[in-house]
Amino acid sequence: MEYKNLLFEEVNNIAKVTINRPDKLNALNNETFRELNQLFDYIRKAKTISVVIVTGAGEKAFVAGADINELSVLDKKSGSKFSLFGQSVFSKIEKLNKPVIAAINGFALGGGCELALACHIRLASENAKFGQPEVNLGIIPGYGGTQRLARQIGKGRAMEYILTGDMISAAEALRIGLVNKVYSSDELLAKANEMAEKIVSKGKVAITASLNSINAVDNLSLEDGLKLEADEFGKCCETDEFKEGTSAFLEKRKPNFER
Ligand code: COA
Repeated sequence: MEYKNLLFEEVNNIAKVTINRPDKLNALNNETFRELNQLFDYIRKAKTISVVIVTGAGEKAFVAGADINELSVLDKKSGSKFSLFGQSVFSKIEKLNKPVIAAINGFALGGGCELALACHIRLASENAKFGQPEVNLGIIPGYGGTQRLARQIGKGRAMEYILTGDMISAAEALRIGLVNKVYSSDELLAKANEMAEKIVSKGKVAITASLNSINAVDNLSLEDGLKLEADEFGKCCETDEFKEGTSAFLEKRKPNFER
């Protein structure tokens, strides 16, 4: 598949999606959103893909936000539409039936921070810088930032970063739980790949059931979430994966799950 603003490759059940506008610090224009939308539809259905890594081209940025050239001409109606479309693409990523790891290799500002937040796991390089600087432009985060940042780091901290527009260093992002791990720039992609390989080696149904159950935390009461967990647990118990996993343990060997 050929895209203008994305690079896509698939190796050993791992897909790598690279936002590829390095001369614009990978800013997300409408065309890039349309391409992401299409690519993630493909990834959802692709049986050979088990895990996805999302990163940015070049050494400077993951994604430096929505494309401000396109933003600058919006009005009330087109602004809401713009926000809803971006939200729908990022929700598609969040709800994907396969884990998505963000390998954040530099600036992750505005839409870049929101893209990282929509991914399931965030790994950052030491030079990564996060932030929601939209107030500097007279707007607010429109691709889920007010909701996902608050859920990820707490309402008080989200208030601080969204109201001030301050940037967050990788070390601070790690401290406040915005990212899972920080690596040197040289190591980042290899570490993301290592984690992806580990996940690929597990049972596919169990991985998807884990995603469904954990994602439900945002929408369900504890009681309903526990019910969902029990349903997903039950579904796992009727799979060949479950038979293989438990037999392997009892036979003191490594499980061999189908890829
Ligand atoms: N939209 C459109 N273009 C962008 C962009 C964005 N969000 N972020 C960076 N670019 C472009 C710059 O305009 C510049 O293009 P040019 O070479 O044609 O002039 C190029 O990317 C390089 O950026 P530059 O600003 O020169 O790099 P820098 O190292 O001096 O600064 C940043 C890096 C990230 C601090 C700065 O680019 C920035 O503040 N970007 C906007 C961040 C933002 O507000 N994002 C939220 C948008 S809602």
